[in-house]
Amino acid sequence: MASPKAGGLSAPVLLLIGASAAALFLFFLYNPSSSCTCSGPQSQSRIVAAERTKAPDPVSTSPDDIAWLKLQLQANNLQDPPTTPEAWHELRKGINPRTREQQLQDFRQYKGISHYEDETEARNRTALPCPGELLVEEHHSNYGEPWAGGRDVFEFLGQSTHLSRNSRVLEIGCGTLRVGLHFIRYLEPGHFHCLERDQLSLMAALRYELPSQGLLHKRPKIVKGDDMDFSKFGDTVFDLIYASAVFLHMPDKLVWVGLERLAKRLKPFDGRILVSHNIKFCSRLGGEECTRRLSNLGLEYLGKHTHDSLLFNHYEIWFEFRRNKP
Ligand SMILES: C[S@@+](CC[C@H](N)C(=O)[O-])C[C@H]1O[C@@H](n2cnc3c(N)ncnc32)[C@H](O)[C@@H]1O
Repeated sequence: MASPKAGGLSAPVLLLIGASAAALFLFFLYNPSSSCTCSGPQSQSRIVAAERTKAPDPVSTSPDDIAWLKLQLQANNLQDPPTTPEAWHELRKGINPRTREQQLQDFRQYKGISHYEDETEARNRTALPCPGELLVEEHHSNYGEPWAGGRDVFEFLGQSTHLSRNSRVLEIGCGTLRVGLHFIRYLEPGHFHCLERDQLSLMAALRYELPSQGLLHKRPKIVKGDDMDFSKFGDTVFDLIYASAVFLHMPDKLVWVGLERLAKRLKPFDGRILVSHNIKFCSRLGGEECTRRLSNLGLEYLGKHTHDSLLFNHYEIWFEFRRNKP
């Protein structure tokens, strides 16, 4: 009897091909020299080549990420968090949280949580001794909004400007790096810039956030200043300039001084300036006058956007501008 055919191949031939493919698969699965756990110059260069061709990490949380997390919560029966302080307390079972105030008191009273015998020795071993006030992270509550919202802002801005690792980014008023940390982690070293006026925020950013997040190697350019003077950033041209909850606190005149200087530093056409909350510095002038002033600077208003928070019931409003002249 003739064997049944598929696409012109006989069954024995198909079986042979199938068996060879399976054998090849098993070979690559179990042969240690076919994976990158080995050492030696050949495998090293393979690792380097793979690193070079690696796709960049995504900017945003994807629907797949969310579906995955929901599955994990379900699998671990964690979907319904407690709704009362008593029920949260019930969950503690030996976990004994300290308030920031209590932690700070401990730092003061016991000179940190040092196990060293004497103070001199402790000081000699701590490369970047950080004040207790920063270690208890009071600065995470400096500006009212949840610290976690910084991620929302990053994802929104990154998505709307087609951010790449090579982009050059300037934040005006980066505060304690609630948003900036995410950019610093994502961007190439030296590509994040910030002008911030507040000493306490700068101290928290430089003395606590960067070292504790392992981001010192990213060499962000963080400059103290309150007069929209960007000269310390050299002649860098930016792909993205943003102000998160900042322009609304500044005198209109200062915002316009800043825009005049920034217009020349924004990449023509593709670069974006994004401003959160409101643009009263513009609307207070009246629509036509505002458009005229923007146009004189070579800027154009592109529209208003909203972005939903991933973790809490909140959305932020953003206003988008571009440079429409070379
Ligand atoms: C509400 S906070 C927002 C901080 C940060 N952008 C965020 O979203 O977490 C406003 C920040 O703008 C800074 N700021 C206000 N006026 C400024 C100015 N003229 N120059 C630089 N920074 C300024 C404040 O010091 C503060 O850190």
